[in-house]
Amino acid sequence: MNLISDIQKLKKERKAVILAHNYQLPEVQDVADFVGDSLGLSIQASRTEAEIIVFCGVHFMAETAKILSPGKKVLLPDPDSGCPMADMITAEQLRILKKEHPGAKVLCYVNTSAEVKAECDMCCTSANAEAIVRDHMKDEGEIIFVPDQYLATYVAEKTGREFYIWKGYCPTHARILPENIVRQREEHPRAEVLVHPECTPALTAIADQVLSTEGMCRYVAASPHDEFIVATEVGILHRMEKENPGKRFYPASKFAICLNMKRTTQEKILWSLQDLVHEIDVPAQTISRARRCIDGMLLSQPRR
Ligand code: 13P
Ligand code: SF4
Repeated sequence: MNLISDIQKLKKERKAVILAHNYQLPEVQDVADFVGDSLGLSIQASRTEAEIIVFCGVHFMAETAKILSPGKKVLLPDPDSGCPMADMITAEQLRILKKEHPGAKVLCYVNTSAEVKAECDMCCTSANAEAIVRDHMKDEGEIIFVPDQYLATYVAEKTGREFYIWKGYCPTHARILPENIVRQREEHPRAEVLVHPECTPALTAIADQVLSTEGMCRYVAASPHDEFIVATEVGILHRMEKENPGKRFYPASKFAICLNMKRTTQEKILWSLQDLVHEIDVPAQTISRARRCIDGMLLSQPRR
């Protein structure tokens, strides 16, 4: 049995597309049709002509694909791949927060459940959060930003806006410490330091560049530098090394591993295609309410 050819054959028969986030295992990235960040994968999901989307990522990402393509079957190969940050706020908690700040608009990071998105006015990813606030929420008064306190703090600093900030965070990015960067800079003095905005302000303050995962991939490809210290989940190094054979990449911390992102394997992708599991189901009413804030984000996006 050859797993890869079995996946490719079944994918064709099922008219399926395989999307994988930049943090997925190398073996998963290598069988995907598209590898990208949350924004890029949302856009692929909204444009695909495939009948089935196999989403190799975490639950909120597959839900976002379902919201954008309600007529398609969206499968999450491992049903327990969640995002601890997305789980840090519930729709009920957000409703209470909205009551405390009547009139405030709600901006949610895409790392939220469909029920939470249904309560929001606008959505963003780490690739477009600053532009959304600067260009598309400039006339709004008060803004509630959920659930990532570090992304919110970073965007507040860049735009000069103040937000009501929910105190969620990504446990994987929070593990990357300033001393990790100091150590790596000592070992690789010529390397540029790239930091994801889910990292703490202590990290973004000492970065050479603060970028989303797709932003990092584009940056390293275009940069004249050939060494990079990468402060985000370690899975991204596979794509960077594959796409840039002459360049060198060092993880800021080898402990920055999102175990949820590592639950998907080639076997689970094959089983997912064979048994059409695990299907993401979002109630129609939640889809139509959550879709408004995702459409708001995608419509404000330059095409890519
Ligand atoms: P991006 O790929 O959008 O930068 O997001 C990072 C992340 O942590 C997704 O869960
Ligand atoms: Fe969630 Fe962080 Fe994992 Fe991304 S890396 S899925 S934000 S826990």
